[in-house]
Amino acid sequence: MKILSLFMVTLSLFLAGCQSDDSLVIYTDRHYATDDAVYDAFTEETGIPVEILSASADELIQRIQSEGENTPADLLFLTDIGRLERAVDADILTAMDADIVEAVPSAYYHPDYYYTGVTKRARVLVYHPDRVSASELSTYEALADESWRGRIVLRSSQNVYNQSLFASLIALNGEPAFDTWLNGLQANLARRPSGNDRDQAKAVYAGEADVAIMNTYYMGKMAFSDDPFERAVAEELAVFFPNQETTGTHVNVTGLGLVKASPKQAEASQLIAYLLSPNVQNVFASTNFEYPVVDAADTHPYIAAWGRFSEQPINLSVLGDWYQTVSIKVDESGFDQ
Ligand SMILES: [Fe+2]
Repeated sequence: MKILSLFMVTLSLFLAGCQSDDSLVIYTDRHYATDDAVYDAFTEETGIPVEILSASADELIQRIQSEGENTPADLLFLTDIGRLERAVDADILTAMDADIVEAVPSAYYHPDYYYTGVTKRARVLVYHPDRVSASELSTYEALADESWRGRIVLRSSQNVYNQSLFASLIALNGEPAFDTWLNGLQANLARRPSGNDRDQAKAVYAGEADVAIMNTYYMGKMAFSDDPFERAVAEELAVFFPNQETTGTHVNVTGLGLVKASPKQAEASQLIAYLLSPNVQNVFASTNFEYPVVDAADTHPYIAAWGRFSEQPINLSVLGDWYQTVSIKVDESGFDQ
Protein backbone atom coordinates (compact mmCIF):
# COMPACT_ATOMS: atom_id res chain seq x y z
CA MET A 1 0.00 0.00 0.00
CA LYS A 2 1.28 3.42 -0.88
CA ILE A 3 0.89 6.38 1.41
CA LEU A 4 1.06 9.78 -0.18
CA SER A 5 1.14 13.21 1.30
CA LEU A 6 -0.01 16.60 0.08
CA PHE A 7 3.42 17.91 0.97
CA MET A 8 4.63 16.33 -2.23
CA VAL A 9 4.63 19.28 -4.54
CA THR A 10 3.95 17.46 -7.77
CA LEU A 11 1.35 15.33 -6.17
CA SER A 12 -1.00 14.93 -9.12
CA LEU A 13 1.79 13.79 -11.37
CA PHE A 14 3.19 11.58 -8.69
CA LEU A 15 -0.17 9.99 -8.05
CA ALA A 16 -0.91 9.53 -11.74
CA GLY A 17 2.54 8.07 -12.21
CA CYS A 18 2.52 5.54 -9.42
CA GLN A 19 -1.12 4.62 -9.28
CA SER A 20 -1.75 1.24 -10.80
CA ASP A 21 -4.93 1.22 -12.87
CA ASP A 22 -6.67 -1.21 -10.59
CA SER A 23 -5.87 0.58 -7.28
CA LEU A 24 -8.51 2.11 -5.13
CA VAL A 25 -7.51 5.57 -3.97
CA ILE A 26 -8.74 6.84 -0.60
CA TYR A 27 -8.41 10.50 0.29
CA THR A 28 -8.46 10.75 4.08
CA ASP A 29 -7.88 13.03 7.04
CA ARG A 30 -7.79 9.90 9.18
CA HIS A 31 -4.39 8.38 9.20
CA TYR A 32 -3.49 5.81 11.77
CA ALA A 33 -0.89 3.11 11.25
CA THR A 34 -3.47 0.65 12.54
CA ASP A 35 -5.72 1.41 9.53
CA ASP A 36 -3.00 0.42 7.07
CA ALA A 37 -3.02 -3.20 8.23
CA VAL A 38 -6.72 -3.40 7.39
CA TYR A 39 -6.18 -2.04 3.86
CA ASP A 40 -3.34 -4.52 3.37
CA ALA A 41 -5.62 -7.37 4.43
CA PHE A 42 -8.25 -6.15 1.93
CA THR A 43 -5.65 -6.21 -0.85
CA GLU A 44 -4.59 -9.70 0.19
CA GLU A 45 -8.18 -10.93 0.05
CA THR A 46 -9.33 -9.21 -3.15
CA GLY A 47 -6.18 -8.46 -5.12
CA ILE A 48 -7.22 -4.78 -5.22
CA PRO A 49 -4.37 -2.45 -4.17
CA VAL A 50 -5.24 0.53 -1.97
CA GLU A 51 -3.52 3.90 -2.05
CA ILE A 52 -3.94 6.59 0.59
CA LEU A 53 -3.66 10.34 0.24
CA SER A 54 -3.62 12.13 3.60
CA ALA A 55 -4.45 15.80 4.15
CA SER A 56 -6.96 17.91 6.01
CA ALA A 57 -10.64 17.42 5.18
CA ASP A 58 -11.01 20.85 3.60
CA GLU A 59 -7.90 20.37 1.45
CA LEU A 60 -9.18 17.00 0.25
CA ILE A 61 -12.66 18.29 -0.55
CA GLN A 62 -11.21 21.25 -2.49
CA ARG A 63 -8.83 18.95 -4.26
CA ILE A 64 -11.59 16.61 -5.44
CA GLN A 65 -13.59 19.64 -6.62
CA SER A 66 -10.67 21.05 -8.60
CA GLU A 67 -9.67 17.67 -10.04
CA GLY A 68 -13.23 17.25 -11.30
CA GLU A 69 -13.83 14.29 -13.59
CA ASN A 70 -10.13 13.41 -13.48
CA THR A 71 -9.83 12.98 -9.75
CA PRO A 72 -7.90 9.86 -8.78
CA ALA A 73 -10.02 9.65 -5.60
CA ASP A 74 -12.50 6.79 -5.34
CA LEU A 75 -13.38 7.16 -1.68
CA LEU A 76 -13.28 10.03 0.80
CA PHE A 77 -12.77 8.96 4.42
CA LEU A 78 -13.28 11.79 6.93
CA THR A 79 -13.41 12.14 10.69
CA ASP A 80 -16.58 13.80 11.98
CA ILE A 81 -20.02 14.14 10.47
CA GLY A 82 -19.46 17.89 10.05
CA ARG A 83 -16.75 17.24 7.48
CA LEU A 84 -18.78 14.57 5.68
CA GLU A 85 -21.65 17.05 5.44
CA ARG A 86 -19.23 19.58 3.88
CA ALA A 87 -18.39 16.96 1.24
CA VAL A 88 -22.11 16.47 0.53
CA ASP A 89 -22.56 20.23 0.18
CA ALA A 90 -19.59 20.33 -2.22
CA ASP A 91 -21.50 17.87 -4.45
CA ILE A 92 -18.55 15.48 -4.86
CA LEU A 93 -20.21 12.31 -3.53
CA THR A 94 -22.70 9.85 -4.99
CA ALA A 95 -25.11 7.36 -3.44
CA MET A 96 -23.64 4.10 -2.19
CA ASP A 97 -25.26 0.71 -2.53
CA ALA A 98 -28.13 0.79 0.01
CA ASP A 99 -27.84 -2.95 0.73
CA ILE A 100 -24.28 -2.46 1.96
CA VAL A 101 -24.89 0.71 3.96
CA GLU A 102 -28.00 -0.64 5.67
CA ALA A 103 -25.77 -2.98 7.71
CA VAL A 104 -25.22 0.17 9.79
CA PRO A 105 -27.89 1.73 12.06
CA SER A 106 -29.60 4.52 10.12
CA ALA A 107 -28.46 7.21 12.58
CA TYR A 108 -24.92 6.87 11.21
CA TYR A 109 -25.46 7.14 7.45
CA HIS A 110 -26.74 9.87 5.14
CA PRO A 111 -30.44 9.42 4.27
CA ASP A 112 -29.52 9.31 0.57
CA TYR A 113 -26.50 7.03 1.22
CA TYR A 114 -23.87 9.67 0.33
CA TYR A 115 -21.75 8.56 3.26
CA THR A 116 -21.73 5.96 5.95
CA GLY A 117 -20.15 5.91 9.37
CA VAL A 118 -17.40 3.31 9.74
CA THR A 119 -16.18 3.95 13.28
CA LYS A 120 -17.86 5.73 16.17
CA ARG A 121 -16.71 7.83 19.11
CA ALA A 122 -18.50 9.41 22.05
CA ARG A 123 -17.84 12.93 23.35
CA VAL A 124 -17.76 12.41 27.11
CA LEU A 125 -16.80 14.11 30.36
CA VAL A 126 -13.41 13.18 31.80
CA TYR A 127 -12.89 14.15 35.43
CA HIS A 128 -10.49 13.89 38.34
CA PRO A 129 -12.06 11.57 40.96
CA ASP A 130 -10.24 13.37 43.83
CA ARG A 131 -12.01 16.63 43.01
CA VAL A 132 -15.28 15.47 41.45
CA SER A 133 -17.56 12.64 42.40
CA ALA A 134 -19.53 10.96 39.63
CA SER A 135 -22.73 11.90 41.49
CA GLU A 136 -22.01 15.60 40.81
CA LEU A 137 -22.01 14.93 37.07
CA SER A 138 -25.19 14.49 35.06
CA THR A 139 -25.58 16.27 31.70
CA TYR A 140 -23.81 18.55 29.23
CA GLU A 141 -26.47 21.11 30.13
CA ALA A 142 -25.57 21.01 33.85
CA LEU A 143 -22.00 22.11 33.05
CA ALA A 144 -23.46 25.62 32.75
CA ASP A 145 -24.42 25.63 36.46
CA GLU A 146 -22.61 28.07 38.73
CA SER A 147 -21.12 25.22 40.78
CA TRP A 148 -18.71 24.57 37.89
CA ARG A 149 -17.28 28.11 37.78
CA GLY A 150 -13.64 27.97 36.62
CA ARG A 151 -13.57 24.16 36.55
CA ILE A 152 -14.15 23.12 32.92
CA VAL A 153 -11.82 22.79 29.91
CA LEU A 154 -12.43 22.00 26.28
CA ARG A 155 -10.68 22.66 22.99
CA SER A 156 -11.57 25.53 20.67
CA SER A 157 -15.18 26.03 19.68
CA GLN A 158 -13.89 26.29 16.09
CA ASN A 159 -13.00 22.60 16.20
CA VAL A 160 -15.45 20.35 14.40
CA TYR A 161 -15.81 17.96 17.37
CA ASN A 162 -17.19 20.77 19.52
CA GLN A 163 -19.21 22.19 16.64
CA SER A 164 -20.91 18.81 16.23
CA LEU A 165 -21.64 18.57 19.96
CA PHE A 166 -23.03 22.11 19.93
CA ALA A 167 -25.09 21.40 16.78
CA SER A 168 -26.58 18.35 18.50
CA LEU A 169 -27.56 20.42 21.53
CA ILE A 170 -29.31 22.98 19.33
CA ALA A 171 -31.11 20.18 17.49
CA LEU A 172 -32.28 18.68 20.80
CA ASN A 173 -32.88 21.75 23.00
CA GLY A 174 -33.59 24.59 20.56
CA GLU A 175 -31.68 27.82 20.02
CA PRO A 176 -32.76 29.89 23.06
CA ALA A 177 -31.82 27.13 25.51
CA PHE A 178 -28.54 26.61 23.66
CA ASP A 179 -27.67 30.32 23.83
CA THR A 180 -28.17 30.40 27.60
CA TRP A 181 -26.16 27.22 27.98
CA LEU A 182 -23.26 28.46 25.85
CA ASN A 183 -22.97 31.60 27.99
CA GLY A 184 -23.04 29.55 31.18
CA LEU A 185 -20.42 27.13 29.88
CA GLN A 186 -18.17 29.99 28.80
CA ALA A 187 -18.41 31.51 32.28
CA ASN A 188 -17.32 28.18 33.77
CA LEU A 189 -14.16 27.66 31.71
CA ALA A 190 -10.92 27.26 33.64
CA ARG A 191 -8.95 28.81 30.77
CA ARG A 192 -9.30 29.99 27.19
CA PRO A 193 -10.01 26.99 24.95
CA SER A 194 -6.71 25.74 23.52
CA GLY A 195 -4.90 22.56 22.51
CA ASN A 196 -6.39 19.26 21.40
CA ASP A 197 -8.55 16.76 23.28
CA ARG A 198 -5.62 15.09 25.04
CA ASP A 199 -4.44 18.48 26.30
CA GLN A 200 -7.77 18.91 28.09
CA ALA A 201 -7.25 15.65 30.02
CA LYS A 202 -3.70 16.74 30.82
CA ALA A 203 -5.03 20.05 32.20
CA VAL A 204 -7.39 18.14 34.52
CA TYR A 205 -4.54 15.87 35.61
CA ALA A 206 -2.40 18.96 36.33
CA GLY A 207 -5.14 20.47 38.49
CA GLU A 208 -5.89 23.32 36.10
CA ALA A 209 -9.49 22.14 35.79
CA ASP A 210 -11.75 19.41 37.15
CA VAL A 211 -13.71 18.28 34.08
CA ALA A 212 -12.80 18.04 30.39
CA ILE A 213 -15.06 17.48 27.40
CA MET A 214 -13.32 15.07 25.01
CA ASN A 215 -13.61 12.07 22.72
CA THR A 216 -13.44 8.57 24.17
CA TYR A 217 -10.71 7.13 21.97
CA TYR A 218 -8.11 9.61 23.26
CA MET A 219 -8.41 8.00 26.69
CA GLY A 220 -7.61 4.62 25.09
CA LYS A 221 -4.72 6.10 23.13
CA MET A 222 -3.28 7.64 26.29
CA ALA A 223 -3.82 4.50 28.38
CA PHE A 224 -1.74 2.51 25.89
CA SER A 225 0.66 5.31 24.96
CA ASP A 226 4.46 4.94 24.77
CA ASP A 227 4.60 8.10 26.87
CA PRO A 228 4.49 7.28 30.63
CA PHE A 229 2.97 10.72 31.34
CA GLU A 230 -0.01 9.98 29.10
CA ARG A 231 -0.47 6.58 30.74
CA ALA A 232 -0.50 8.28 34.15
CA VAL A 233 -3.12 10.80 32.96
CA ALA A 234 -5.42 8.05 31.67
CA GLU A 235 -4.94 6.00 34.80
CA GLU A 236 -5.79 8.81 37.19
CA LEU A 237 -8.83 10.25 35.40
CA ALA A 238 -12.30 8.77 34.99
CA VAL A 239 -14.85 8.82 32.17
CA PHE A 240 -18.50 9.86 32.55
CA PHE A 241 -21.18 9.39 29.89
CA PRO A 242 -23.47 12.44 30.22
CA ASN A 243 -27.23 12.68 29.65
CA GLN A 244 -27.92 9.02 30.35
CA GLU A 245 -31.20 9.90 32.08
CA THR A 246 -32.14 12.49 29.46
CA THR A 247 -31.16 12.87 25.80
CA GLY A 248 -28.13 10.55 25.61
CA THR A 249 -24.42 11.08 25.03
CA HIS A 250 -23.27 12.77 21.82
CA VAL A 251 -21.64 10.33 19.40
CA ASN A 252 -19.99 11.03 16.08
CA VAL A 253 -18.48 8.91 13.31
CA THR A 254 -15.61 8.78 10.93
CA GLY A 255 -17.16 7.87 7.63
CA LEU A 256 -16.66 6.97 4.00
CA GLY A 257 -18.15 8.79 1.04
CA LEU A 258 -18.14 7.40 -2.50
CA VAL A 259 -16.64 9.95 -4.90
CA LYS A 260 -19.06 10.80 -7.72
CA ALA A 261 -16.38 10.93 -10.40
CA SER A 262 -14.85 7.56 -9.49
CA PRO A 263 -14.91 5.04 -12.33
CA LYS A 264 -14.37 2.21 -9.81
CA GLN A 265 -17.70 2.21 -7.99
CA ALA A 266 -17.88 -1.60 -7.84
CA GLU A 267 -14.43 -1.98 -6.26
CA ALA A 268 -15.10 0.94 -3.92
CA SER A 269 -18.32 -0.76 -2.81
CA GLN A 270 -16.30 -3.90 -2.12
CA LEU A 271 -14.04 -1.96 0.24
CA ILE A 272 -17.00 -0.30 1.98
CA ALA A 273 -18.62 -3.72 2.54
CA TYR A 274 -15.30 -5.08 3.79
CA LEU A 275 -14.85 -2.30 6.34
CA LEU A 276 -18.41 -2.82 7.59
CA SER A 277 -18.11 -6.60 7.98
CA PRO A 278 -18.21 -7.56 11.69
CA ASN A 279 -14.75 -9.16 11.80
CA VAL A 280 -13.07 -6.18 10.19
CA GLN A 281 -15.09 -3.78 12.33
CA ASN A 282 -13.66 -5.52 15.41
CA VAL A 283 -10.13 -4.74 14.31
CA PHE A 284 -10.67 -1.50 12.49
CA ALA A 285 -12.55 0.30 15.23
CA SER A 286 -10.91 -1.20 18.29
CA THR A 287 -7.27 -0.72 17.26
CA ASN A 288 -7.90 3.01 17.44
CA PHE A 289 -10.05 2.63 20.59
CA GLU A 290 -13.20 3.61 18.73
CA TYR A 291 -16.58 1.89 18.71
CA PRO A 292 -17.69 -0.22 15.76
CA VAL A 293 -20.83 0.99 13.94
CA VAL A 294 -22.10 -2.54 13.36
CA ASP A 295 -23.85 -4.15 16.32
CA ALA A 296 -22.28 -7.59 15.87
CA ALA A 297 -18.76 -6.26 16.36
CA ASP A 298 -16.84 -5.89 19.64
CA THR A 299 -14.94 -2.95 21.08
CA HIS A 300 -11.48 -2.98 22.62
CA PRO A 301 -11.70 -4.36 26.21
CA TYR A 302 -10.48 -1.02 27.62
CA ILE A 303 -13.44 0.74 25.99
CA ALA A 304 -15.90 -2.09 26.65
CA ALA A 305 -15.15 -1.81 30.40
CA TRP A 306 -17.02 1.53 30.46
CA GLY A 307 -20.18 -0.38 29.64
CA ARG A 308 -23.02 0.38 27.29
CA PHE A 309 -24.53 3.84 27.09
CA SER A 310 -27.47 5.54 25.44
CA GLU A 311 -26.89 7.94 22.56
CA GLN A 312 -28.63 11.06 21.35
CA PRO A 313 -31.73 9.98 19.40
CA ILE A 314 -30.90 11.87 16.22
CA ASN A 315 -29.74 10.99 12.74
CA LEU A 316 -26.25 12.51 12.58
CA SER A 317 -26.96 14.06 9.17
CA VAL A 318 -29.41 16.41 10.94
CA LEU A 319 -26.41 18.18 12.46
CA GLY A 320 -25.63 19.45 8.95
CA ASP A 321 -28.50 21.94 9.36
CA TRP A 322 -26.83 23.63 12.32
CA TYR A 323 -23.08 24.12 11.67
CA GLN A 324 -23.48 27.59 10.23
CA THR A 325 -25.62 28.66 13.18
CA VAL A 326 -23.07 27.21 15.61
CA SER A 327 -20.22 29.09 13.92
CA ILE A 328 -22.07 32.38 14.15
CA LYS A 329 -23.03 31.82 17.79
CA VAL A 330 -19.54 30.89 19.00
CA ASP A 331 -18.04 33.82 17.08
CA GLU A 332 -20.59 36.29 18.44
CA SER A 333 -20.24 35.07 22.01
CA GLY A 334 -16.44 35.25 21.80
CA PHE A 335 -16.35 31.75 23.24
CA ASP A 336 -12.62 31.29 22.60
CA GLN A 337 -11.58 34.79 23.74
FE1 LIG B 1 -9.44 13.03 16.86
